[in-house]
Amino acid sequence: MNPVKPWSFTGSDGSFHLEDPHKTSYLYFPLVNEAGLMSAVTPDLHGDAKADQHTFLLAPESLEDLHNSRSARNFWLYAEEAKTAWSVTGNSAAQISATDPEKVSLDAGFLWHTLTRENAKLGLRAVVTSIVPASPDQVELTKVVITNISNHALTITPTAALPLYGRSADNLRDHRNVTSLLHRARCTKFGVQVRPVMAFDERGHHPNAITYTAIGAEGDGCPPVGFFPAVEDFIGEGGTLDWPAAVVQPIRECQPAGTTLDGYETIGALRFKQVSLVPGESRSYVLAMAVLQPETNQAEDHLVKTYLSDAQFAAHLDATKAFWTAQLSTFGAQTGDPQFDMWLKWVAVQPILRRLYGCSFLPAHDYGRGGRGWRDLWQDILALMLMETGPVDQLLFSNFAGIRLDGSNATIIGSRPGEFKADRNNIPRVWMDHGLWPLMTTSLYIDQSGDLNFLLRQAAYFKDSHTHRCQQTDFAWTAASGTIQQIQGGEIFEGTVLEHFLIQHLTAFFHVGEHNNILLEGADWNDGMDMAHHRGESVAFTQFYAANLRQLSQLAKDLQASGIEEVDLLQELLPLLDTLGNPVDYENIPAKQGRLAHYFNQVAGTISGKKIRVSLNALAADLQVKADWLMAHLRAQEYIQNAEGYHWFNGYYNDDGERLEGDHPQGMRMTLSGQVFALMGGIATDEQAREVLRAADHYLFDDKVGGYRLNTNFHELLLNMGRCFGYAYGHKENGAMFSHMAVMFAYALYQRGFTQEAFKALNAIYAQSANFAVSRMYPGIPEYFSERGRGMYPYLTGSASWYLLTIITQVFGVRGNRGNLTLAPMLLKEQFDQQGDAALTTLFAGRKLRVAYHNPHGLEYGSYNIQKVTINGKEISGEGAKEVILPRKLITDLPAGELHQIDVTLG
Ligand code: G1P
Repeated sequence: MNPVKPWSFTGSDGSFHLEDPHKTSYLYFPLVNEAGLMSAVTPDLHGDAKADQHTFLLAPESLEDLHNSRSARNFWLYAEEAKTAWSVTGNSAAQISATDPEKVSLDAGFLWHTLTRENAKLGLRAVVTSIVPASPDQVELTKVVITNISNHALTITPTAALPLYGRSADNLRDHRNVTSLLHRARCTKFGVQVRPVMAFDERGHHPNAITYTAIGAEGDGCPPVGFFPAVEDFIGEGGTLDWPAAVVQPIRECQPAGTTLDGYETIGALRFKQVSLVPGESRSYVLAMAVLQPETNQAEDHLVKTYLSDAQFAAHLDATKAFWTAQLSTFGAQTGDPQFDMWLKWVAVQPILRRLYGCSFLPAHDYGRGGRGWRDLWQDILALMLMETGPVDQLLFSNFAGIRLDGSNATIIGSRPGEFKADRNNIPRVWMDHGLWPLMTTSLYIDQSGDLNFLLRQAAYFKDSHTHRCQQTDFAWTAASGTIQQIQGGEIFEGTVLEHFLIQHLTAFFHVGEHNNILLEGADWNDGMDMAHHRGESVAFTQFYAANLRQLSQLAKDLQASGIEEVDLLQELLPLLDTLGNPVDYENIPAKQGRLAHYFNQVAGTISGKKIRVSLNALAADLQVKADWLMAHLRAQEYIQNAEGYHWFNGYYNDDGERLEGDHPQGMRMTLSGQVFALMGGIATDEQAREVLRAADHYLFDDKVGGYRLNTNFHELLLNMGRCFGYAYGHKENGAMFSHMAVMFAYALYQRGFTQEAFKALNAIYAQSANFAVSRMYPGIPEYFSERGRGMYPYLTGSASWYLLTIITQVFGVRGNRGNLTLAPMLLKEQFDQQGDAALTTLFAGRKLRVAYHNPHGLEYGSYNIQKVTINGKEISGEGAKEVILPRKLITDLPAGELHQIDVTLG
């Protein structure tokens, strides 16, 4: 067997080349635009295209459909001399079973996808380029160039075949046939349009005004000669989409423009005129598939004029490349490993992809109905904040309106920033970790911007029928009441961003289970820990809350230092700031629960709206006491040891109130989550941190799957813990190397000064991703690696944001410090290039900076200090420390819109 050839980068812009892409299953590539068309294309042009859950242009495809379905984009040639049909995408029954290999390769970049396929016997080469242009239209374009590579003239009859699904994803199983009866198709001059008269979906039956279209022209703009709009006519009786009668028997007559077809499955099958090509001659075709929304008034002639020629396609290809290049121009790294630097660019595009696709619309992500979850919303902003220009504070701020007064939050998130919806399905669920991500992200924002006053901005609260963290219902609430918390009399209630944080963290602090850790509720970050909602506790995320309480205390102190003495807080909240009035014994679990129950009762309906002035000093002290108590509690109670002499932090209690981790008759039990936040939050002492790392290395690290696994093998279906224990071991949330947690582990290790170990964790993920023969994925970071090491759920994963955050703020140590710029590199010797240089391009204070570290003596981390710093050649400081802090003004004084060079000499 030939060895698998890996992809390789072909330049410095992230473009890559892969031989035989069709010999790897499950590969797909994202094509998307800001107008909202979301496509996926595979090496044989499978993958779907859609605008949302109810507007699928091509039939929805999940992973298994990529090889199972015959309903892919296709472009056929009937080779008259050879008397056979040939699919330029390789998607024909004859090619799939052929013994003569065709030469196939893939080239791709930001964000374009080109396949080249040659059949030496037929003497034909096809180059097929796909884009979703960076334009205001929901359109996908394909250009096909056919070349005669034989030494004699060839006659070909081309036919494009684009199966138009044109309805809701729900109709795939629910009324697939009945909804085709709603279709009204028409052949136009350039293609086939279908407009269903009605749509059947979760909103009920209603008139439809969306049109789906597939059109095409020769490169010079010449229209097709005819059409086969009905799938059943195109395939013929007994035929299939991978051996369609209309193509394999070219005598079939096509229909002229003007033909209508009512009530059938439709296909944009476009017959082009027969052509003869002399040796070396080429002919090109441009195809466009689009969703025409009623309000955008896009008619076919607009699409034809804008897209359907060689010249137009070339212009859109260039514009699309330029768009993505500009998006990514604010981030880049140059290290000793150029392949890593290029790979990182593909990681950098991922948070943007998740903003555009949500968590639902690529083949592996075959769940959800579009949109993102609460957690993802905040985490994606982390990277967007470091990469995207524009008013990030507004994006951040708008999300605070999703927080409820009981500390939980809306879970149905609309597509516009700050749009939160009531839970129509009435399946209330609370993830206990949700309350801590907004502070995590806002802290980064405040550090990057110095905008401490952000904490004082006034935001509304979310309200629906769910109260008491979804344990009770407010029957007085109806859909007509709206989704904004009101005070008696109907006025909207608002509070500061700081107050929102306090509500999230104080409610969590008091919401404890029988071991005095915060209750797990519906789940935590690990969505799979979802079956312990009575007695389960998440120690892992209690650690995170403890660190956040300390952080909140610090923010209150900083506000005070900026000259603000007092803040107004919701009166009902005061009892939770117990040290200010009537203290609660934190060891007394019922007392804590009682205090919280009282608060929940107070805020279940409309509220008084009364505010109480609280001194920031007292507030900071209260939060500090709580943080200290919680940390001491965790250190004393949850730091465990096993018979083999390893120590680490227990991460969970199950629904029977039993500790999850430690020695067990079925085998040793340990989770990574329990360790990550113990390190990150400073719960683990330095000594404990070393022990935790020793245990993680022993029990969780596995090179073959790309690093630290999420847990050891529990060898048991834990129905008192969560569905993830139903997954076979080594998959997804049951013990895979789950990138997000592993990257957060690396981040925590950097924070604690374990630089070598942190690099090992980060590098293992990169090495595994780039090991194509095993990972079988394009460049980028996957959600996890399967037990066999295959990269799973590529592109849409929060780990990408964290990977970038770690590279920028830890590895290169370029980070904000209450608005000032810290430079504190943690680069290892091997991360510098041969000249001893390593550089990062990033955004700070709206300025594009290139921070170049020079390590002329090739020193290892730990033995170098910062000797000299210059900005655009001008010396700023010469120190001798591990880090320098550059005042913000030094940066903001630099002209915007240019790239500025900061040189840092290490010695
Ligand atoms: C996915 C979800 C994320 C969740 C995680 C673990 O991870 O999107 O919200 O916390 O699974 O269950 P991702 O790879 O997207 O970060």
